[in-house]
Amino acid sequence: MIRWKKPEVDMQNLPRHIGIIMDGNGRWAKRRGLPRSAGHARGADNFKKIVRFCGEIGIDYLTVYAFSTENWSRPKDEVEALMKLLSEYLEKAYKELDERVRVKIIGERQMLSPTLQKKVADLEKYTESRTGMVLNIALSYGGRQEILHAVDQIAAEVQNGSLAPEAITEETISDRIYTNGQPDPDLIIRPSGEKRISNFLLWQCAYSEFWYSDILWPDFSSKHLLAAIADYQKRNRRFGGV
Ligand code: IPE
Ligand code: IPE
Ligand code: MG
Repeated sequence: MIRWKKPEVDMQNLPRHIGIIMDGNGRWAKRRGLPRSAGHARGADNFKKIVRFCGEIGIDYLTVYAFSTENWSRPKDEVEALMKLLSEYLEKAYKELDERVRVKIIGERQMLSPTLQKKVADLEKYTESRTGMVLNIALSYGGRQEILHAVDQIAAEVQNGSLAPEAITEETISDRIYTNGQPDPDLIIRPSGEKRISNFLLWQCAYSEFWYSDILWPDFSSKHLLAAIADYQKRNRRFGGV
């Protein structure tokens, strides 16, 4: 048995905002001869564990990629299974979620069923005044679409005269994307062995540190999260300086 050496983490210097691409549920299930939906169910359980852990160690913002705009192209039964899990999560969150956590759903929510849209809005409203960790759930989310919406909005404001073209800055865009008012992610974690961004937080990841692992999302544990944080803490973030 390989003994796990506890990663050395400086708890006073945690990343403020962590993004996680929760990938690898399908392969996890396939390896066990199970349907992909079984992998998603395990992935959803793991998501709850990791959210709890991040809250406990004092992460301020956690953004998890649950469903991309491109994921709508998956087989209907898989999409349905994912939406069902999501719906169950939104219902159980009232009891199960740490009562300090504020939930925000980011993405093209008009693509969701009216029932789901209502559940999303209700949970957001219910947790709105909470002051603990902010949990952004990226759902029907695409980074390009998010930027496109900001551009649409800016164009409309320029046209109606409320925004002068020469007044457009980076902040003009940052203020019109889903994560407005939040710091950019310091660390982005992707399990499952893929080394790509898959349309996640494109504007926000300009200076994020990336951490990849072959571990599949249902097996990703608090130990892996600490390993990612420990690795992040060793990096020298230069932001273009020297
Ligand atoms: C991530 O797992 C969950 C979603 C994208 C909704 P996948 O379903 O992508 O799992 P793999 O990549 O096929 O293993
Ligand atoms: C990214 O995973 C989206 C989520 C984890 C929700 P995908 O499995 O959809 O990404 P690709 O297709 O491998 O790039
Ligand atoms: Mg995948």
